[in-house]
Amino acid sequence: MPTLAKLALLALPLLACLVLPAAAAELRAVSPDGRLELRFTIAEGVPRYALARDGAPLLLPSRLGFVMDDGSRLDRSLALVDSARAAVDETWEQPWGEQRLVRDRCRELRVTLAERSGARRRLVVVFRLFDDGLGLRYELPAQPGLRDFAIRDEVTEFVLAGDPWAWWIPAYHPERYEYLYRRTRLSGAFRGRVRALHTPLTLETAGGPVLCLHEAALTDWASMTLAPRAGGGLRCDLVPWSDGIRVRGETPHRSPWRVLIVADDPGGLVTSTLVLSLNEPCRLADTSWLGTGKYVGIWWGMHIGRYTWGSGPRHGATTENVKRTIDFAAAHGLAGVLVEGWNRGWDGDWAGGRGDFRFTEPHPDFDAEALAAYAAERGVALVGHHETGADVAGYEAQVEDAFAWCRRHGIRVVKTGYVSWGRGVPRIAEDGSIHNEWHHGQWMVRHYRRVVEAAARHGIMLDVHEPIKDTGIRRTWPNMMTREGARGQEWNAWGPAGGNPPEHETVLPFTRLVAGPMDFTPGIFDLLFADAKPSNRVNTTLAKQLALYVVIYSPWQMAADLPEHYADQPAFRFIEDVPADWEETRVLHGLIGEYVTIVRRERGGEDWFLGSVTDEAGRVLEADLGFLDPGRDYVAEIYADAPDADWRSNPLAIDIREVLVDSATRLRLRLAPGGGQAIRFRPARARPEP
Ligand code: NOJ
Repeated sequence: MPTLAKLALLALPLLACLVLPAAAAELRAVSPDGRLELRFTIAEGVPRYALARDGAPLLLPSRLGFVMDDGSRLDRSLALVDSARAAVDETWEQPWGEQRLVRDRCRELRVTLAERSGARRRLVVVFRLFDDGLGLRYELPAQPGLRDFAIRDEVTEFVLAGDPWAWWIPAYHPERYEYLYRRTRLSGAFRGRVRALHTPLTLETAGGPVLCLHEAALTDWASMTLAPRAGGGLRCDLVPWSDGIRVRGETPHRSPWRVLIVADDPGGLVTSTLVLSLNEPCRLADTSWLGTGKYVGIWWGMHIGRYTWGSGPRHGATTENVKRTIDFAAAHGLAGVLVEGWNRGWDGDWAGGRGDFRFTEPHPDFDAEALAAYAAERGVALVGHHETGADVAGYEAQVEDAFAWCRRHGIRVVKTGYVSWGRGVPRIAEDGSIHNEWHHGQWMVRHYRRVVEAAARHGIMLDVHEPIKDTGIRRTWPNMMTREGARGQEWNAWGPAGGNPPEHETVLPFTRLVAGPMDFTPGIFDLLFADAKPSNRVNTTLAKQLALYVVIYSPWQMAADLPEHYADQPAFRFIEDVPADWEETRVLHGLIGEYVTIVRRERGGEDWFLGSVTDEAGRVLEADLGFLDPGRDYVAEIYADAPDADWRSNPLAIDIREVLVDSATRLRLRLAPGGGQAIRFRPARARPEP
């Protein structure tokens, strides 16, 4: 990926080269705008960091370091032996995303610490201060006293000033990341069975900024969850291997970045690029084969019980059914068709590592060769599906052949899946013994990354379900397109308590989506599907389903309903028109758990798209259209809840109309209870020739 402009990269002279007796030392660094200040201290051998904004504390002195598996500690009896500073200001171009250009602007402070006695092992802590937050990571340099290592605990603390409101989901629970976010005081989150929280963890401080704790560049480490710290605040709780070790490795080795995003308002979390900035530049020599688009699928039919993945009279992935779906995609300009249940392995008990999926062996009623040709003739791409059922060994043994098979059949996007619950991913050790691992421990982090790299070698883009959380690695591996990692639309098909409540989609942009794109699969038009599943439904209005294409970013965006439910539906026009790749993104309104309005400009184009969604309360929001080019008229194609729409009683009532607007217009967005609004703004006339 080309770096557009390297504006400055200054390695400032070494500020301090000290071998202190560790009695006390203090170093400060500030963000480029001078508002955030980091204070690193070492006192009586114990390193700590603290963060303040405009002089007000955000993080009180918080500890750093590790407890090693042999019981030795790298969090005390340390001395500061070196420090260095650097500043970065460069702009790079994403091959696809919520915005084309990303500016990395930060100040870096590196501190090298060493044990004061014994093996004198060294540890480097790197801090990067951005205008909108902090990243910190550990480096374990190659050294005689530290070669192979095993970490029992990472000590990193986040001692928050005060007890903010937290939007959280629990870690170490059976459904991985697929929980509804709850809002409590942070201290109130740890009740009952909740002993740790997943990140991104979003925090609302009293009268201060909105914060989000997360991590970046999770490459060869365990995922960070957050547990309560004795005395208040949070501490890092790395997801362990089945034997209790958190991280294994050999030096030199680096941890992911621990990230605190600091935003004036919730919208600042949506547009922050800090997590991407902390990832390594692109490793793909050629990104021209990457693409974005919309897809339909043989998919929702299984979730509502109309089709089956496995063989039998209701098998969904038949040649005939797939052809019909390809015809639909071609007729409506949709790029892809996802086919689940096409291969052998679905009959019987396949989840939790108990299955035997074959990724090059189609069901007899799925004619792969014919379908590859049929799709290609119509300019439609088949989206492959590799449900592993968490049989990681089985998948790793087949993955090269599986991706090669995909390419032979014209498949360039593959959805993977790892259905299993809790600590339910079997790992087969060298001696043949079986150990159950979490989806989020280091062993699985390594597996997910191996698959991304294998996919890249084969020219395959990935959409991962039951994934490891997103930590921005799409910068490095931009074939890692999208993933699940939250409660998506499918929970409405079969989830308990009626699926996702209307509030859900007003929370996701400020929590899960801060991490990166999500394959939420919007676009259900038959919201009630009462004939298929009377006890479930989608808890939104129709207009809200359209708005989700703008509110929830994914470079591969599904039109999730059965194709026949889009027939003769004027609202489907919005799904045809909305892009999945953007030049820029802005947040017009955002109150977590209540409403959000996002506008995005199409990449390389002039059209803007707006999505606005509300919780169960109806409301009127005023949209300032100042983002449009001044002095130009635009046609606003509006897909609004009808005046009598209501997610509960009248979800399908939609009002589609066109009005002329310009950048001075203030547009009233009327959102029904559980509703939303989607708008395409297109210039009324072509720009005059100069
Ligand atoms: C769970 C995934 O989230 C869903 O999209 C998929 O259809 C099923 N697993 C089967 O692979």
